Amino acid sequence: MKIVAATGNAHKLKEIREILAGFEIVSEAEAGFCGEIEETGETFAENARIKAETVCRATGLPALADDSGLCVDALGGAPGVYSARFAEKFAPRGYTAGNRAYLLERLAGEKNRRAHFSCAVALAFPDGTLLTAEGRTDGSILTESRGENGFGYDPLFLSDDLGVSFAEASEPEKNGCSHRGRALAALKEKL
Ligand code: IMP
Repeated sequence: MKIVAATGNAHKLKEIREILAGFEIVSEAEAGFCGEIEETGETFAENARIKAETVCRATGLPALADDSGLCVDALGGAPGVYSARFAEKFAPRGYTAGNRAYLLERLAGEKNRRAHFSCAVALAFPDGTLLTAEGRTDGSILTESRGENGFGYDPLFLSDDLGVSFAEASEPEKNGCSHRGRALAALKEKL
């Protein structure tokens, strides 16, 4: 089955391809979609549905979207759905070094550094069928970046499962226990 990955994030696309090996995953560009989608939902699940349905309608192909983010206990679950634009006032959207610096600043002197990543995935089919799943992975926020792999908040996220930061882990290690890996594995079961 050919599925469009409804994401402009090259790292997410790579992870989706690895986790859903066996399916033909094409990028938005390969499917001829080049629009910007506004994430107007208040939950990861809503945003994933909006992105999947928009790209499915535009391309006529089944479309898979992920919406994900980091939820920090001491910040009442922030940045959550705003993870990509956490430091928006100081840095452009998606400028992840700025987001990481801002997170460290907000947690300066904080003892409770517990956090989790959440991911919702939605797969929209042209006949209107929608398959959804969610995944979560727990850990804590380091006081400085560690590792070079991954993207986003990975260098600051010490994984409970791995005992190292997501940026120190190899791709298969991260995908084996990540929020996205778990959400996509649950979706694969439903497929
Ligand atoms: P989205 O594209 O709106 O889903 O934005 C998700 C944002 O959450 C990303 O830009 C990252 O900042 C963060 N994020 C989501 N998943 C991960 C991950 O696996 N590692 C690190 N950061 C992530």
